[in-house]
Amino acid sequence: MTTETAPVGTREEPSDTQLIGLVEHDAARDPFPVTGWDALVWVVGNATQFAHYLQSAFGMRLEAYCGPETGVRDHKGFVLRSGSARFVVTGAVDPDSPLLAHQARHGDGVVDIALEAPDVDRCVAWARSQGARVLVEPHDDADEFGTVRSATLAAYGETRHTLVDRSRYSGPYLPGYVARESTFVPRPDAPRRLFQAVDHVVGNVELGQMDRWVDYYRRVMGFTNMAEFVGDDIATNYSALMSKVVANGNHRVKFPLNEPALGRKRSQIDEYLEFYRGPGVQHIALATADILGTVDILRREGVEFLDTPDAYYADPELRARIGHVRVPVEELHARGILVDRDEDGYLLQIFCRPLTDRPTVFFELIERHGSLGFGKGNFKALFEAIEREQEARGNL
Ligand SMILES: [Fe+2]
Repeated sequence: MTTETAPVGTREEPSDTQLIGLVEHDAARDPFPVTGWDALVWVVGNATQFAHYLQSAFGMRLEAYCGPETGVRDHKGFVLRSGSARFVVTGAVDPDSPLLAHQARHGDGVVDIALEAPDVDRCVAWARSQGARVLVEPHDDADEFGTVRSATLAAYGETRHTLVDRSRYSGPYLPGYVARESTFVPRPDAPRRLFQAVDHVVGNVELGQMDRWVDYYRRVMGFTNMAEFVGDDIATNYSALMSKVVANGNHRVKFPLNEPALGRKRSQIDEYLEFYRGPGVQHIALATADILGTVDILRREGVEFLDTPDAYYADPELRARIGHVRVPVEELHARGILVDRDEDGYLLQIFCRPLTDRPTVFFELIERHGSLGFGKGNFKALFEAIEREQEARGNL
């Protein structure tokens, strides 16, 4: 640690505007008002252990649970929280559970990007008028804590968006779940949390499908384009991808969408599509106010990150490109943290290795300082690092 780096856990937590780049938005004029993330719902092969990993390594806290002890015979569900980020991890208990078939095909992954919607019926009526597939009609679920109204729309692959209005509900998550606290005891020096919010969730779709899904989010959900990376921006010697970003009105919900581009070898998006057996969630970016401290703790807990080549930090163009950032470049280099700058400011970011056995879903950590971007300037350095690992797996 240098004097310029505050000790772990002591950096003041910024507002959501600084943390994730929120903007003003008039929801009354929005045909599909979405105010934020409700939860990221996972299906995994062993929810009991994945929930433990998210607590022990990523510092999340258990808030609620469902399973055989609460009358749910089919599966277990663990609701975990860090700041405003809520993950719901589900896994089959009954050998005939449909969750097992999903997990067998896709591996562990995110099945539902649930969104906070103050008027579920209005959203569904609009979505249907724009041609969206409604998987579950608007309905109420109630218990002694009140009523939750929700509905579910189909998205790319088998990914879904459940729209949730919990304004009339005070329970720990949803009817069927009971409050449950972690039995995991954090280390004495652990900070209150390692990340504060979900910044963005990236979807991988098939070649030629990116524009279709960008159009879907614009038309059905009233999202707007934020940024666009096409062709050479993120091409490397071996492979390339195309990426466009859509966001909801207040920019709390940001969806970069990737499709493979033709390269000399198979792209990382192709590898994902093969091992996930179709489109799905590629990575989840977690916003932190102290990426250096968070990375130090995650490494201590055994979380692995993509290697960044030393040449990335030695490149004289890097220093010219990034200008002054809050810590010396050597501190970033020691941790493999990437830095990017645009006209609004800069961001620090790093990517974890895949979380599961298949080379599919992973986490990014991001610390924003004004930049509303996604690390475009780092894409090439990052993809070259990913490709070295892809090659080591024999999939390049
Ligand atoms: Fe990202």
